[in-house]
Amino acid sequence: MKKSENSMQRGTNRRKFLTSGMVAAGAVTMGASVLPVTSAAFSGEEDGAPITKGDIAILTFLSALEQVEADLWIQYAELGGATNQGLSPIDLPFTGGLAPDYITGLLVLDGDMPQYISDNTDDEISHHRFLNNYLESKSAKQIDLSRFAILPPSQVTGVPQKGRLTNLKQLTIDTSWWTRYRSETANPDFGGTFENAVPDLAKGQHPAIPVSDADLGVDANGNISNHLQAIANTAGFHFAFIEQGGSSLYPALAQKVTNLEVLRILLSIGGSEIAHFQTWHDKAGNATNITDGNLTFPNLNTGVDPNNGATGNNIADDFQTNLIMPEPTFFLDKKLGPVSIIRPTSTQQGGAVASVVSFAEDGLFRDPSTNRNTGIVDALMRLAEQADEARRKI
Ligand SMILES: [Fe+2]
Ligand SMILES: [Fe+2]
Repeated sequence: MKKSENSMQRGTNRRKFLTSGMVAAGAVTMGASVLPVTSAAFSGEEDGAPITKGDIAILTFLSALEQVEADLWIQYAELGGATNQGLSPIDLPFTGGLAPDYITGLLVLDGDMPQYISDNTDDEISHHRFLNNYLESKSAKQIDLSRFAILPPSQVTGVPQKGRLTNLKQLTIDTSWWTRYRSETANPDFGGTFENAVPDLAKGQHPAIPVSDADLGVDANGNISNHLQAIANTAGFHFAFIEQGGSSLYPALAQKVTNLEVLRILLSIGGSEIAHFQTWHDKAGNATNITDGNLTFPNLNTGVDPNNGATGNNIADDFQTNLIMPEPTFFLDKKLGPVSIIRPTSTQQGGAVASVVSFAEDGLFRDPSTNRNTGIVDALMRLAEQADEARRKI
């Protein structure tokens, strides 16, 4: 009896929707001018859980890390961004990449690379600004790490010679995200470990931007050097390294949030990090198979493990460049079977402290004058510990 009442109600609702479709469409158009500035629709979902100290700690840490992301993306956009940035509410302080030869190398990865670089850049600026504005709207302190902007940028002509938070000239890039997202038997949250796609990037120090005008130039045939292509390829793998970090960080911290609106912020910004990662994951696979000094970009489609020369069907699947969708793997409990997911999402593997450690190990904060990290690592670590310590309070 109950069931038929429900079906009747569903039928009525569906008819009501169909007949009122025109009105609804008009209401949507009007909505922008009549809705209050804050989202009334969402407040209906509120469960009364307050914004806790832990929520503020999480938002503060995320704002800090977004400032770091914005800083590194601005450096990429200065040299390799698009001349037409499209419609964006964020005005980048420059109109296009200053190093056309570097852009030639980036275009090998995808014809839209400069546009994607500019877009990723203003996304990160917007994340940092929004999080700071939100903190202020809740009478919490905004975060600003500018005092740590002491690292020298690229010397390429035209690059503003002001201190930066990050160093993109001496990176050691963990490319194991590549095999982690292809594995169907291992998950970092279950202790899984993963091989690098580009083993040479995971050791030594490599530039991901042209360091000076000496890195630029073309030969008589208009081709760039292997060195400059290697720099562009390095950037391609670095983009995905950075954005997969954000893809894990937001769901890891979301599990500690108490207030629903704060949770909405984390889920919504986190989704944008995943969109970035998925794009860069696809592009990195187009990196040309070249060698520059001690850095080789292996052909990942030969069925050979570039780490040890092993072969076999599983090996081929672990490296094949078009397998960019997250392969189903084990999650929570192996009895539940494999599932396609973001990985990791535990505090230990993907939380705030883990993110700071992975950025520091990447060489992002290396001061070339001392070969040590700048003070930003201590500041980020303090904020990260507070964020990881937050607990959901319902
Ligand atoms: Fe971001
Ligand atoms: Fe990001």
